[in-house]
Formats: sequence, structure tokens, C-alpha cells
Amino acid sequence: MTAKIKPAQGSPYARILGVGGYRPTRVVPNEEILKHIDSSDEWIRSRSGIATRHWAGPEETVAEMTLEAAGKAVANAGISPDQVGAVIVSTVSHFKQTPAVATEIVDRMGAGKAAAFDINAGCAGFGYGLTLAKGLVVEGSADHVLVVGAERLSDLTDLTDRSTAFLFGDGAGAVVVGPSDEPAIGPSIWGSEGDKRDVISQTIPWGDYRVGDVSQLPLDEDGSVRFPALRQEGQTVFRWAVFEMAKVAQQALDAAGIAADELDVFIPHQANMRIIDSMVKTLKLPEHVTVARDVETTGNTSAASIPLAMERLLATGRAKSGDTALLIGFGAGLVYAATVVTLP
Ligand SMILES: CC(C)(COP(=O)(O)OP(=O)(O)OC[C@H]1O[C@@H](n2cnc3c(N)ncnc32)[C@H](O)[C@@H]1OP(=O)(O)O)[C@@H](O)C(=O)NCCC(=O)NCCS
Repeated sequence: MTAKIKPAQGSPYARILGVGGYRPTRVVPNEEILKHIDSSDEWIRSRSGIATRHWAGPEETVAEMTLEAAGKAVANAGISPDQVGAVIVSTVSHFKQTPAVATEIVDRMGAGKAAAFDINAGCAGFGYGLTLAKGLVVEGSADHVLVVGAERLSDLTDLTDRSTAFLFGDGAGAVVVGPSDEPAIGPSIWGSEGDKRDVISQTIPWGDYRVGDVSQLPLDEDGSVRFPALRQEGQTVFRWAVFEMAKVAQQALDAAGIAADELDVFIPHQANMRIIDSMVKTLKLPEHVTVARDVETTGNTSAASIPLAMERLLATGRAKSGDTALLIGFGAGLVYAATVVTLP
């Protein structure tokens, strides 16, 4: 006879209890980008909507930025660090692959023996982490889960590539997900289109550095070994985002049973202002919906972009606790994740 396994006792629902963000102190205007590429402030602003971005200094590592954002999110949630039962860090720019940076965060923030792991889901990383966190809380594996998106994309930026040099920024955004008596995180519409995995990718796989003959290593003009960068087929990604992601966002609204005019806030991935404007139009979002346009001063911070934008909307009073918000992230993979949430 198969023995009966006792199920974990979870919460009926989960919600975002608190949010926190960290933006590096150094602000980089378009003028600085123009030292390396043939372009103009006007072109960058009109094609991407980006005016400035934050780039991390040597001390602002993925771990340090994560800790800052995590500390604020935990305080904002009104819990103590030892109540965190799991930490999920989504990042593509933490260059020490093992151990997971999440383990350092658990130790340094004082989260006891919380479960800790990193995920790689590009610019959908926050949505993927949120989906996992909700599952853990409802299933009963953790009372409170910290989800962080943290990136130093300036390290993966080829300053001489004029199709990407102006796009990326650094930062960390975090939320605490915990128990709720009412639904406050809707169904996730998430997925991948792996046949498009080459349209955004790292230029040089780490394995290429493992050569017997060092003269085989890719070199920069000054003779130093070239570090990988992110490259993308900009127009392909742009068209995919504009045509396909609006459909995914609509599916998330439908799955949550929320009509566009019931929405208070729209927080799409901050990649390009024209993509944001196009989605607002396709989704027919009414005037009263507050739209996150953080990309103007933050650039594309991949997994950090949605929680950073959420934190800023709440901190500036443009959104308020209890508002209903549609979130959608999309990027390298290609991967995507959309859901409707109640703001903390
Ligand atoms: C990168 C991006 C801003 C470029 O904008 P775009 O309108 O697609 O630009 P294109 O690549 O079609 O280039 C248009 C023209 O501008 C030129 N151009 C490209 N980069 C330029 C630059 N930095 N400055 C000036 N001109 C530039 C091109 O050479 C091209 O010239 P041509 O028409 O004479 O051939 C845009 O494609 C984008 O945002 N894509 C999606 C990004 C994204 O979301 N990525 C990640 C998801 S996580």
C-alpha cells in the first residue's frame, strides 16, 4: 500500500506585501554614450525614449544592489528578514555562476536558512520569479518569498555597438510575496519562444574562453581579451514585442477577469518607449491608467525593470497601495510573463 503523504499547509492566496529598489549613484546621459558611437541625443531619445541611465560603480555589485533593494522591500512589507523563507534572484549579469548569489543574500540579510536560488529568464525574470513565489506561498513551502531582479548590464554592453550601447542600465528591484486572504496575484501568462533564442544573446559563450591556445581568444583593439556583450536583432525584437506581447498582456487581463477600464496601473518591461506607447494603444488602456515610463531615466535594466518602475510609481504617489496593475516582462529567450496584481 502506498503511504499517504501529508500535504504542506499553504495560504489560500498570495500578494505582494512590499517593494524596494536600488539605482546606482552614477547617472549616465546620452552625451556620454555618444563619445563611442556615431549617433545623436535626438536619435536615441526619439527611437528609444531613453535620456539617462544609471551605471554601477565597482562597489555596486549585483549582490550589493540586491541587498539594498531587498532590505527596503522587507522593511516596506513590515516583516523581519528572518521571516523570509525563500530568496529568488533573477539575473543574467552575476558573473560568478556558482554559488547562486541568492545564498549570499540570505546570509547577509539575516534570513536564517531560507531556500536560495538564482534564475535566468532575461527581461521576464521578475515575472518568472513572481510566479514561483506565488506558488511557494500557496503550496506552503514558504510564508514569505523575496523576489529580486538585479542587473549590471553595463558590464555586458559593447560601447562601440551603436544598436545597443544606449539601451542598457543597472539596478535592482525587489518584492516580498506573502500570504493573502484574497486573490492579489492573478494567473501568470508565461512562456517561451525558443526558436527565437538567437535574436538576443551573449556574443561570446563562456566556453569559448576555455581554449588551450590563448592566442585563440577574441581580442579588443587594444589587445585585451574581449568580454562578452549583449547583442540583439533590434527590429525583430521590436516587432515581436509590439505584435505578440500586447496579446499576452490581454490574455493576462482576461485570465484575471479584469477589464481595461478596471485597471489603475500598467507596468510593462522598460525596454523602449515606443513599445510601451504601442501596447497602451493596442490594449486600448483608458486615460486614467497610470503608465510606467521609467525607461526614460533608467534604460533597460532587464529583470530589475518592473520592480524598479513599481517602486518609483508608489514612491512618487503616481500609484497607490491597493491599485490594480498589469505587469508584463519579455526578452532574451525569447521569454515572457504577464500577470495582474494588487500593488503593495
Ligand atoms: C534598438 C532600437 C531602439 C533601434 O531602433 P530601430 O528604429 O529599430 O532602428 P533600426 O535598427 O531599424 O535602424 C534604423 C536606422 O537607424 C540607424 N541606426 C541604428 N542605430 C543608430 C544609432 N544609435 N544612432 C543613429 N542611427 C542609428 C540604422 O543604421 C538604420 O539606418 P538606415 O535606415 O539608414 O539603415 C529598437 O529596435 C528597439 O528598441 N528594439 C527592441 C529592443 C528591446 O526591446 N530589446 C530587449 C527586449 S529585452
